[in-house]
Amino acid sequence: MSYAIIGFGEIGQTLARAFARSGIDVSVATTRDPESFASDAAAIGPEVTTKTLAEAVKADVIFLAVRFQSHPDVAKALPSWQGKIIIDVTNAYGVPDEDLGGQPSARVVARAFTGASVVKGFNHLVAAVLDQSPVVHGGKRVVFLASDDEGAATEIGALAENLGFAPIKLGGLSEGGLLVQAHGNSWGRLIFKDLVTFD
Ligand SMILES: NC(=O)c1ccc[n+]([C@@H]2O[C@H](COP(=O)([O-])OP(=O)(O)OC[C@H]3O[C@@H](n4cnc5c(N)ncnc54)[C@H](OP(=O)(O)O)[C@@H]3O)[C@@H](O)[C@H]2O)c1
Repeated sequence: MSYAIIGFGEIGQTLARAFARSGIDVSVATTRDPESFASDAAAIGPEVTTKTLAEAVKADVIFLAVRFQSHPDVAKALPSWQGKIIIDVTNAYGVPDEDLGGQPSARVVARAFTGASVVKGFNHLVAAVLDQSPVVHGGKRVVFLASDDEGAATEIGALAENLGFAPIKLGGLSEGGLLVQAHGNSWGRLIFKDLVTFD
């Protein structure tokens, strides 16, 4: 399984650090020449390599860590996303409901990434919290996952565990997904809830 993070801003870099902490290789891409931020990636760890967007989207699992408004531009990178898992880390805060056509934001993303299995996740905490060690007082920090594809949610749940987190599946995008999405001036009820589970 190969992994990429599209977007190397606050949350993209936070995710890259989580991969590096766990010793898992990941590529990162933006609109920029990969050389221009290669030293920032190298400073995180040897696991993190910069690529062009066209190269990065060859990965099996792709974190979408750009502003919600930029997702259609990323979606243009491939004619079909069949067989790939997109993890939608975006928060559509400030995006009017009319622009979402009354749909959950992750469904709008799913429509743009034709053929992909979309998992909404890793988006409910601010980067500064997600950046901390996922081990808290002997428990593990929770990340929520919502998807209409149970197999994809399970796959990303395993990745979340490998990254040190405790995944909790919330069900489909139109059910659990609403708890962890933003739209207009509202936040889903689980957004910003920093939870820890103990076995
Ligand atoms: N920051 C947080 O605490 C946080 C927490 C949870 C979720 N989120 C969500 O995560 C997303 C990113 O937030 P952020 O704070 O990390 O934003 P950010 O710091 O502004 O970073 C955005 C990144 O996306 C890249 N980008 C923009 N357009 C692109 C395109 N068409 N193709 C490839 N890369 C592109 C930018 O690179 P260039 O413009 O240089 O190419 C930049 O690296 C947002 O949807 C936000 O709501 C953020």
